[in-house]
Amino acid sequence: MLWRKSTIGCIVLGLCASLAGATNAFALNPVTSSIASFTLIAPTSEVPSGLLARAVIASGAGCPMLSGSTSAGRTFALPMRLRSKPALAGAAYSALDVCERGIPTGTDNAMVGSRVIPATLPSRIKRIALTGDSGCRITSLAVQNCANTSAWPLARISRNIAKDKPDVIINLGDYFYREAECPVTDQGLCASSPPPPGNLPVTGSAMSWIADALIPMQPMFDAAPILMARGNHESCARGGIGYFLFFSPQRSTALQCAPSIVDGKVVVPSNDISPTWNATWQVGDSDATAHTLDIEVIDSAYGGDQSVDSYAAIQRPSYVAAARRVAKEKPDEAWLLTHRPIFGMISTQYSDGQSVWTSPNQTAASQGLLGDFNLILSSHVHVAQAVNIPNQPAQLVIGNGGTLLDPATGYETPKYGPLSNVDGSPLSPLATPYPAPTSTWTDVRFGYIIATPGTQTKSWSLEHRDERGKPFASCAVANRLAKCRTTH
Ligand SMILES: [Fe+2]
Ligand SMILES: [Fe+2]
Repeated sequence: MLWRKSTIGCIVLGLCASLAGATNAFALNPVTSSIASFTLIAPTSEVPSGLLARAVIASGAGCPMLSGSTSAGRTFALPMRLRSKPALAGAAYSALDVCERGIPTGTDNAMVGSRVIPATLPSRIKRIALTGDSGCRITSLAVQNCANTSAWPLARISRNIAKDKPDVIINLGDYFYREAECPVTDQGLCASSPPPPGNLPVTGSAMSWIADALIPMQPMFDAAPILMARGNHESCARGGIGYFLFFSPQRSTALQCAPSIVDGKVVVPSNDISPTWNATWQVGDSDATAHTLDIEVIDSAYGGDQSVDSYAAIQRPSYVAAARRVAKEKPDEAWLLTHRPIFGMISTQYSDGQSVWTSPNQTAASQGLLGDFNLILSSHVHVAQAVNIPNQPAQLVIGNGGTLLDPATGYETPKYGPLSNVDGSPLSPLATPYPAPTSTWTDVRFGYIIATPGTQTKSWSLEHRDERGKPFASCAVANRLAKCRTTH
């Protein structure tokens, strides 16, 4: 571990030149000062190993090497490649460059420059961390205390997820929340938080991504490969340029939110939906329960939260692609991952007497396509929640990863189902309401989930932990049902 300490000293004291050559790592990798490095879960169509190494570095510093060795004893040192940056992103993203390289299949250990990164998934996954909705909220209406790690606990959650030693981490999206300049009246909460760029029709910038995600998430980046879904805060008009630069797992998507000039104005895309992709893992508590788990990842960055409209038809192909792949490949178990929930409830304090069911365009877009899924994972509502709709996969909402929580009360089980109004009538002629839920459970505390396979095939035990890592609730998932209870 000595070389890692040397690396820190090298960065802090600027002694890299005198230390270079002191170890093999330095000899191979003259660049040691990556701002963040991590291993993304990526589609195997792009990276055969399903693992993509990324490094965020100072702009112009030059990409580090990806080095390591395989279980067969072969060593490698591969130059990382610069990821494209949108030409018109201007100064907002000029401070950083992003480098990437697929991790070779069979890799045992790997380093980006001189920093160790997660290099492998176990042959049988036994521990999955689940988290979502994490940035520090600054809008004209609400300001979180970004200067206090109890009020904005992402760094603590990240550290405790790392301590729990998951095999893999799933992040359900909404990373970027610093959407307004810190109000003069709230300087004690957010003084000097990076403001939105004034020269682009977007709210995100490199500096806000550093503050909201890249620095506080580094402990969990170090712990395990991570799947980073896109939330609505990563739409192109918000943090999308940063999402596609840092976290999108496809090498071809770097410019998806690139600004362009139309009729003399700078604009960014909207309703740009990334194609559905998937990851398939071996999971299980023992040989007897080992099985394949397929996770279908939907891009639900768009579509609104209150009505069913023409967007549902635009979103539907994402769910058709997921359902088709699962029907064709027939994994033992399949989860649907979509940032906006399909069966998620907001507090009656927010619903203004209307339906509490959120994101009905996702509900409508996926209708009739959920038959092969056991579980739906989402965030978006800033709570921990489980919803069981008759004959549908259980819905989990894990939106308590650090951003300002939703109201603490107002989550009684509704007597009407998704896609209906409070009197049970259809919300829209475009979609048939679901029946009322058989049960719901909501707990409004910061935290994350550690999921472990149960002793029965395709069953899971979920432990909700708070930002200190202390358990506060548990869920048993089996037969497409999630039964949750608060324990502390
Ligand atoms: Fe959110
Ligand atoms: Fe969201």
